[in-house]
Amino acid sequence: MIIAIDGEASTGKSTQAKKIAKRLNINYRDSGAYYRAITLYLIRNQINPKETLGQDLFSKIDISQKFESDSFSIFLNGEDVTSKIRGHKVSVNVSEYAKKPEIRNFVYSLLRKSSKLNSIVVDGREIGTVVFPDADYKFFLYAIPEIRAQRRHKEINDETVKIESIEREIKERDDIDSTREIAPLKKAEDAYGIDVSYLAIDQVFEEILEKITF
Ligand code: CDP
Repeated sequence: MIIAIDGEASTGKSTQAKKIAKRLNINYRDSGAYYRAITLYLIRNQINPKETLGQDLFSKIDISQKFESDSFSIFLNGEDVTSKIRGHKVSVNVSEYAKKPEIRNFVYSLLRKSSKLNSIVVDGREIGTVVFPDADYKFFLYAIPEIRAQRRHKEINDETVKIESIEREIKERDDIDSTREIAPLKKAEDAYGIDVSYLAIDQVFEEILEKITF
């Protein structure tokens, strides 16, 4: 079974995906975390998003994700980068790198490999449209930008970071993600859309669970 949770930035996709994985006892993959880890690697190695990336480069990038007893971790060449990939530098650069077909194909192959043996829930932008168009269940989460920024601000829990700058970053990423030529952010026709602006985490979760019938 494959469950796709797509949607705009900071709509709680990964929170929902983790809850589903736990409840159904299936695997979880955070596609955004792959793009973020690759971005971290490329920034560290001073590789510009405008450069064409050869296959030899990807053979140097080993990324693995782990979801165990409620806790998600991601490793880049053996280093735990779970917190580092959430930093500002990665956040403001990731969407430029995520436009690149070489990077997207690399992530697609990692995601498809993960789905071969086990049931899986994956969150992202185009999981239901491009990566797994035949997914068994597809959801698309969206919300008012101001509310998404407030929630992300609370999550970051750092008063030196202004809500306005988070809102700007979220809108900028949504804009790049939804206007790019390859695999843009958009709701799959057969996805179930949920406006999460005024819903609590558990309310969204119940709505999703109701749709997943065995
Ligand atoms: O957590 P949040 O929704 O803010 O972002 P994320 O899922 O960590 O994704 C970070 C960025 O990676 C997105 O803004 C996209 O530019 C890119 N991304 C993508 O292109 N395709 C995906 N399936 C997931 C993320």
